[in-house]
Amino acid sequence: MTDTIPSPGAADSSADSSADDDMISDALRKMVTPKGTRPSTSARRGSESSVAVATDRAQMTYSLPDRPEPPPIPNGWYSIASSDDLAAGDVVSVIAVGRELVLFRDEHGLAHVVNAHCPHLGAHLGGGTVVGDSIKCPYHGWRFGPDGACVDIPYSDARIPSKACTRTYTVCEQDGFVFFWYHVNDRSPAYEIPTVDAVSDAEWSRAYPWRFELVAALQEMAENNVDYAHLKYVHRRKYVPSDTSSFTTDGPFSTVIEALPDGTEFYRHAWGPGVAVLIVPDLMTVYTTTTPIDRRHCRLNWHFHFKGKVEQMASEMIEGVTGDYGLQADVPIWRDKIFLEHPLLVKADGNIAEFRRWYAQFYEA
Ligand code: FES
Ligand SMILES: [Fe+2]
Repeated sequence: MTDTIPSPGAADSSADSSADDDMISDALRKMVTPKGTRPSTSARRGSESSVAVATDRAQMTYSLPDRPEPPPIPNGWYSIASSDDLAAGDVVSVIAVGRELVLFRDEHGLAHVVNAHCPHLGAHLGGGTVVGDSIKCPYHGWRFGPDGACVDIPYSDARIPSKACTRTYTVCEQDGFVFFWYHVNDRSPAYEIPTVDAVSDAEWSRAYPWRFELVAALQEMAENNVDYAHLKYVHRRKYVPSDTSSFTTDGPFSTVIEALPDGTEFYRHAWGPGVAVLIVPDLMTVYTTTTPIDRRHCRLNWHFHFKGKVEQMASEMIEGVTGDYGLQADVPIWRDKIFLEHPLLVKADGNIAEFRRWYAQFYEA
């Protein structure tokens, strides 16, 4: 997914003759994707139509009993919005982690995530309004506070029933994202998300958001980063970098380091199943958040940050990571593949087995 860098043409097209820009272009040239057959525009732009077609396909009702279910939704922190997209008083309906949720920002500026359906008669709180730190149901005006408990039934003098409570999710807002904690059995957060220096460092650009929805199981997308062989066959790298990449873990965190032949290194830090940061030192930091909509569909909300003059090439850099040689090349593979619990791996396949051992902690035993 985040494993490809802009093409040389992209870098050249934006470079001028200044010394700084030459330096940038040289650095980019060292990380180029090899030339290959470029998919046709219609196939490429098919990312959107592919999603539509794939979604249709996913909604068909053939009975294929031998097709395994994708893995369940892992426990972890997931982004639900970019902070800039949620003003005080906003109420947003979101389907994520297989659930209908409502996100709102209260009048004090705090973000909240609650189950969408009102415990009174089941109205959708996404049509509600913010009052102080509570959300007011659009149907009969019941209000629910930050802990989910009903604080007002405007037409009743009777005691508020103790069961008048909507489910809430723990929220964390940092580095430009609103995150919520998901646990299949409602346990408390098991880790914290680290902060990212580039987000607030004046030498780095603002966030350039990039969003996409696709047919893919979350684990399949994450596993892609340690599947070194596919870099050659899907992303058209010249070689399989199985002996120049490493995968290390630290509790709920993991890191993939890929070293190019000239010594340039990329880092991909994953913090649980839903958050990862790709760092190309001194050039680009991609804050990638991937949220399962359900077991077969994911929503990507990525923020690109560029250092100094690299920002001039923002669109080319984003295209390099997300375009034909990058994420778009993976899209049809993820859409159509099945998840094999016991794949046939050879040594040069990289760290897939190690990755799966690490990832197992995010599922309930
Ligand atoms: S359904 Fe929400 S107040 Fe009645
Ligand atoms: Fe990939």
